[in-house]
Amino acid sequence: MDDDDRTAAHDTSIELPTPSSEEADVEVEREEDAPEPAELDAETRARRDAALRHVRKFGDPVLRATALPVERFDEDLRHEVVRMGELMHDALGVGLAATQLGVLHRVLVYKAYVDDPVTALVNPVFEWLSDELETAEEGCLSLPGVHVEVERHARVRVRGQDETGRPLEIEAEGLEARVIQHEVDHLNGVLVLDRISREARKDAMRAMREAQEPAEHRPADAA
Ligand code: NI
Repeated sequence: MDDDDRTAAHDTSIELPTPSSEEADVEVEREEDAPEPAELDAETRARRDAALRHVRKFGDPVLRATALPVERFDEDLRHEVVRMGELMHDALGVGLAATQLGVLHRVLVYKAYVDDPVTALVNPVFEWLSDELETAEEGCLSLPGVHVEVERHARVRVRGQDETGRPLEIEAEGLEARVIQHEVDHLNGVLVLDRISREARKDAMRAMREAQEPAEHRPADAA
């Protein structure tokens, strides 16, 4: 990425309101069988909006910071992980990095598939990344309205610890591999906007601006 782009990303200090509920800004991507947000019942929608209010949005400098390794595996960390899992669930996301809550800990949680338990990964380090790459659409809870095609390693092996300090090694492919890469990016201050072309980034910035507009000003097909 060139300096111009970096400046553009940093200088945009727009205040982002809480995304309205009909948007589909699910972290990484919505599970295929999940209902469209417009079809969510009022309670689910309210819970999602409440959760999203805790998620830092584009323009917040914390999203550009590098998170620090966790050294203390204590009760506070376990509470943090539980809270992250709950917010991810309520926000209908498939992954969440501590950075997105303004906490600069190298901690992420994810749940790529409906029947999977929530996995917490502390101090993740990639041991291996496949040469094979895959492109798929990603969204991000921190980038309302943005859905972009992102190229990622198709398979990864990542080492880290769980929230109790127990060593973890995870081999992942498909959506799970994608979510892990997306969340580790967050821990390094990297957003999907940094992984796409300048042209795609312009479109994404426009989508984000439109997502901020009050519903009545949006084109009819976006409601
Ligand atoms: Ni994200």
